[in-house]
Amino acid sequence: MNRRNIIFSIMVLIISTSGEANNTMKSIDKKIDDIIQQLTLEEKVAMCHAQSKFSSPGVPRLGIPEIWMSDGPHGVRAEIKWDSWGHAGWTSDSITAFPSLTCLAATFQPELSREYGIALGEEARYRKKDILLGPGVNIYRTPLNGRNFEYMGEDPYLASKMVVPYIQGVQQNGVAACLKHFALNNQETWRGHISVEVSDRALHEIYLPAFKAGVQEGHVWSVMGAYNKFRGQHTTHHAMLINEILKGAWAFDGVLVSDWGSTHDTREATLNGLDIEMGTHTDGLSSTVKNAYDYYYLANPLVELVKSGEIQESVLDEKVSRILRLMFRTSLSQNRPLGKMNNPEHLHIARKVAGEGIVLLKNKGDFFPIDPHKKMTIGLIGDNAVRSMTAGGGSSELKAKKEVSPFEGLQKRFKNATILHSLGYNSGAPVYGRELESPLDADSLQAAALEVASRADVVLFIGGLNKNHSQDCEGADRKSMALPYGQDELLKKILRINRNVGVILISGNAVEMPWLSRVKGLMQAWYLGSEAGHAIADVISGDVNPSGKLPFTFPVELTDNAAHHFGELSYPGDGTTQHYKEDILVGYRWHDTKDIKPLFAFGYGLSYTSFRLSRIRTNKKTYVAGEQVKVSVKVSNKGKTSGAEVVQVYIGKPESEVKRAKKELKAFYKVELDEGEATTIDLVFDVNNLAYYDETISDWNLEKGDYLIYVGNSSDNISHKAKITIK
Ligand code: BGC
Repeated sequence: MNRRNIIFSIMVLIISTSGEANNTMKSIDKKIDDIIQQLTLEEKVAMCHAQSKFSSPGVPRLGIPEIWMSDGPHGVRAEIKWDSWGHAGWTSDSITAFPSLTCLAATFQPELSREYGIALGEEARYRKKDILLGPGVNIYRTPLNGRNFEYMGEDPYLASKMVVPYIQGVQQNGVAACLKHFALNNQETWRGHISVEVSDRALHEIYLPAFKAGVQEGHVWSVMGAYNKFRGQHTTHHAMLINEILKGAWAFDGVLVSDWGSTHDTREATLNGLDIEMGTHTDGLSSTVKNAYDYYYLANPLVELVKSGEIQESVLDEKVSRILRLMFRTSLSQNRPLGKMNNPEHLHIARKVAGEGIVLLKNKGDFFPIDPHKKMTIGLIGDNAVRSMTAGGGSSELKAKKEVSPFEGLQKRFKNATILHSLGYNSGAPVYGRELESPLDADSLQAAALEVASRADVVLFIGGLNKNHSQDCEGADRKSMALPYGQDELLKKILRINRNVGVILISGNAVEMPWLSRVKGLMQAWYLGSEAGHAIADVISGDVNPSGKLPFTFPVELTDNAAHHFGELSYPGDGTTQHYKEDILVGYRWHDTKDIKPLFAFGYGLSYTSFRLSRIRTNKKTYVAGEQVKVSVKVSNKGKTSGAEVVQVYIGKPESEVKRAKKELKAFYKVELDEGEATTIDLVFDVNNLAYYDETISDWNLEKGDYLIYVGNSSDNISHKAKITIK
C-alpha cells in the first residue's frame, strides 16, 4: 500500500469509528428516553438524591442500578456506615494510598498523572464505585487553607495540564471522576456560607480554567458543587456558574452532584442545574420512622413542586437523563474493565509519583544525597518520621493496606547506619473537627531529642504539618503559617547542638522557616501515601534524583501573600462576605508583579545535578490568532549524574491596555537526561492562550502587540527572554 492509500484507509477508519461512536451515542440516548418513559414521578425524584451517606437509589423494579460513590481524591476511602459518618468496619476495604495532589502537581509530569488516574480508577472499580469524588482543583490562594493538599497548586495552567490525564485515567476504568469543588471554595473558614466577591476576570483567568479543562478536554462525567456562596448565591445551585458556564458555555453533559450538605433550596437547586443532592444533614433511618432522605430538598419537596405545576417535569427528566447517561458510562457500560487493587504496580506508581514530586529546596555543601553505605549515626527527629499520614485530614482520609513510614524506609535503605529516633514533639491523634492535646510531656520529648542530636553525625528532622484539625485538614483553616507544636523552637535548640541538620517537611502547605539559613538541607516531601518512607529514602540516598518543582509559592511571611496583604475582608472575610482584592494576582503573579521576594518561588526545585538551558528560539517572531508558538530550548545536563529538569515558559506583556501579571506560565516540559547528555525540546502553546478575559465584552480578548517570553527552570530563575509580536 502506498502512503496515500495508507492515509486514506486511516481516514476511512477514523470516519467509521466516529460514525460508530455517534451511533452508540444515539442508541444510548434512545435507551435513556425509553427508560424515562417508564419511570414514575417518584422514581425519577428518588434518583436525584441520596439514599445513604455515599449512594443514591436505583429503580429496582426496572433493574436500574444504585450509584455508589467514594472519596477521593488520592485513594478510595474506607466504607462508611449507611446513615452516619462512622467507618463501616469492613475488612476488605483497605487500599493503596497515592500521594496527595500537591505532590502529583509537583511532578510537573502529566503522563504520570495519567498513570496515577488509571491506578486509582482501577482501585475504585475493584471497590465497586461508580463515582470517585476527586480530583480537586480549587486554586491555592492562601497557605492557611486546610485543604490545599487535596488540590493542584496556585497556577491554573499547571492544574489544567495535570487534571486532564488524571480524569481520563480514572474514567477509562468505567468509573466517573468528580471534579470538585465548583467553584471558589478556596478556604475552609466559614465554607458553608461565606460569599466570595471576585471579578469576572479573575474568575475566568484564575479560578475556572482547571475546571474548564476537566470538562472540555478531560470530558469529566461528574462535577461537585461547592459549599460557599458566590455573589450571594450558593455555588451548588448558582445560576451563572452552573447554568450559564458549566452546563451552558462549556456544554458539560455529566451529573452535577452537590457537596455533602451544600444544597439549600428546592426550587433554586432544581432550576439551577443540580442533579444529585448528597449529604444534607439528616441522621437517616436511625431516628425517624420514615425515610429521612425523603426530606431532602430534591426529594418530597420536589415531587410537590412538580405536582403543583410550579416546576415542569421536563426539568426533572433532564436530570434523570444525565444520571442515566452516567450509568451507561459506568455501571451499565458493556466495556467496563474489572478493576484491580493493592497490586505491586499500584505501589510502584505511588512510589514513582512520590519520588518525582519531592522538592529539594536547599542543599548546602551537597548535604544530600547521604551515602547509604556509610557507617554513621543518624539522629532522626520528629513526629512525622513515624506518624501515619494517610489517616486524618477529613474526607480524604484513607485506610491504607500498607504505609511505610519515613523511619522504616530509612532503616531499610541505610543498613550500615545506626538510626536513633526521637519524637521531639508530639501532636496527638487526628480527630475530625477537634484539636486534642498530646498526652506526652513536651519537655521530656524535647530533652530526649536534644540528647539524640548530640550523639548523631547527621540529624534528619522530619516534621511539618499533619492531618490534625487546624493543620492540613478539612473543616478548618490553619491558624498561622508557623510550624505547630513548638517545632521552630526545637529546631533552634537542635541547631545549637548539631550543625549537620537536614529538614524534611511533610505538609501540603507553605510554612514559615525562621531556621532556614542554618540548616544544610531541606526537602518538601508532601503527604506521600503508602510508599512514603521508601520514596523519602530513595531521594535521601540518591537512588532517585529529585526533580519536583513547587506548585505554589512559599512566602516569607503570611502578609507577603496576596490574599493576606489586603487584610481580613480579603481573607477570611467578615463572616458573610469576602473580597478577592488581589484579583488576578494570585501566587507568583503577585510576588513577581509587586516585586515581593518569596522564600521559595513557584516552579522552584533543585536537583543533584545541574542543567543549562541554551539556544532558545521561537519558530517565528510574528504570529496571528490561532497559530502555535513553538519555543525550542537546548537542555544540557552538566553534572555527574542523570536527572530531570522542568523547563518552564512564561509570557508577559509589559505594555498592555489592561492590568497584567508580570508573567504567567504557558508551557512546561520535564526532560530526563543522562550525565553529560543534551537535547533540544520544543514547548508549544496556542497564541489564543495569551488572551485576557475582557469584562467589557464578557469574552476572551487577544491583545495585539509585543509579548515577552521568559524561559527558565522556576518562576524566579529566568535564563532567557525573547520578544514575539501578535499581529
Ligand atoms: C467534602 C467533599 C467530600 C464529601 C464526601 C465533603 O465534606 O467537602 O470533598 O467529597 O464531603 O465525603
